Amino acid sequence: LNLVVLISGGGSNLKALLEATQSTDLPARIVAVGADREAEGFAHAAAAGIPTFTVPLGEHPDRVSWGDALVEAIRAHEPDLVVLSGFMRLLPPNAVRALAPHLVNTHPAYLPEFPGAHAVRDAIAAGATSSGASVIVVDDGVDSGPILAQERVAVRPDDDEAALHDRIKTVERRLLEQVVRDIAEGTLDLEKVSTP
Ligand code: GRF
Repeated sequence: LNLVVLISGGGSNLKALLEATQSTDLPARIVAVGADREAEGFAHAAAAGIPTFTVPLGEHPDRVSWGDALVEAIRAHEPDLVVLSGFMRLLPPNAVRALAPHLVNTHPAYLPEFPGAHAVRDAIAAGATSSGASVIVVDDGVDSGPILAQERVAVRPDDDEAALHDRIKTVERRLLEQVVRDIAEGTLDLEKVSTP
């Protein structure tokens, strides 16, 4: 299964997925890594000889044009699946339409709890005693697509955002690897997952 992974920052989840494709029997390979900026996480791709590409929002007059350019850059690598893992932009509807349902996202909360860009901070601020990690099919909404996998992660009283996020990421990585494996092995068919 050929994957294109989109990131925005450090790409620690990308690194974990990359290692899984290299060191386990996971029948998938990352063919390119993209971002909306020169992401620090590109270093993980470069170390593995995987091409990277950037499609900065600022280089486009509007989000639709940016979305089209992003889809074009992704399609150049002919992926079977696009994985958003730490990609901090919302894809415009034209981009979702072009890529879905072969488009999944990892989110550091137990959706539908705490959607959006600050899930871990929001869980702590809300005094939640548990949060979680989720892998979903991306739709036009904000972290609102069909849930493919999710698992609870306890919030500890002394947790700060970094500590809780690190614990959640450990679960995210395992769930993402399992979803990629299920899709690669044919036990999960994204065409059959109903998007509302
Ligand atoms: C992950 O928790 C991801 O779900 C969220 O941002 C984090 C990215 O971390 N959107 P990293 O860039 O993979 O380290």
